[in-house]
Amino acid sequence: MQLDVFTLIPHAFAWLTEQRPVATVLGDELDLRLFSYRDYTPLRARQVDDEPYGGGAGMVLRVDVVAAALEAVYGGPPQHPVIALTPQGRQLTQAVVEELALEPRITFLSARFEGFDERIVEHLSTDAVSIGPYVLSNGDLPAMVLIDALARRLPGALREGSGELESFSEELGGGLEYPHYTRPAEFRGWSVPDVLLSGDHARVDAWRREHVR
Ligand SMILES: C[S@@+](CC[C@H](N)C(=O)[O-])C[C@H]1O[C@@H](n2cnc3c(N)ncnc32)[C@H](O)[C@@H]1O
Repeated sequence: MQLDVFTLIPHAFAWLTEQRPVATVLGDELDLRLFSYRDYTPLRARQVDDEPYGGGAGMVLRVDVVAAALEAVYGGPPQHPVIALTPQGRQLTQAVVEELALEPRITFLSARFEGFDERIVEHLSTDAVSIGPYVLSNGDLPAMVLIDALARRLPGALREGSGELESFSEELGGGLEYPHYTRPAEFRGWSVPDVLLSGDHARVDAWRREHVR
């Protein structure tokens, strides 16, 4: 899978690339490329945003800058999904992750301050995604959320068995995963359910299925 991110802060992604599962699949199942709008802007002094028409606070990411960046990298309109990360996008769920995981190639567009010139969303993007009903300072954390959610679906990203039985999975009927416990079996009078200490796999399995939320 190839994931391209257009951002103003490419170095913000350094942490993500050093962590599992992204680090595990990077350069193998995952090709992650980071592009700075500033490297492609046709404007002077590496300018990328401008004041909003109609007035008001904040700066808006310019459509000509994003178009120039996409053109430079792809040599024309991209032939794969281009997703604008914006609070106005469709809400991210595991179902959206599964849908996007089928794509071999995706481009994410990140903005900051007041956000995108609307023409970027309308004409340069094929989709818009919000990671939740709240406002963050820029689209880089949303891009990282998506990259992590997609990377852990790739072959080899997770240890065998840890990706199938988890919250929102088909295996759990889309429900939330059952509770987990580890040592000590008793702490401050808080004890682990006896069945989990029984060694009886059938009973453990039944208990876990009962406790899917
Ligand atoms: C401060 S926000 C802009 C908020 C915008 N003025 C509004 O009121 O909806 C700057 C950028 O952060 C990103 N962003 C913020 N919250 C987001 C969210 N919940 N999902 C996806 N992207 C988000 C988007 O790229 C957005 O353009």
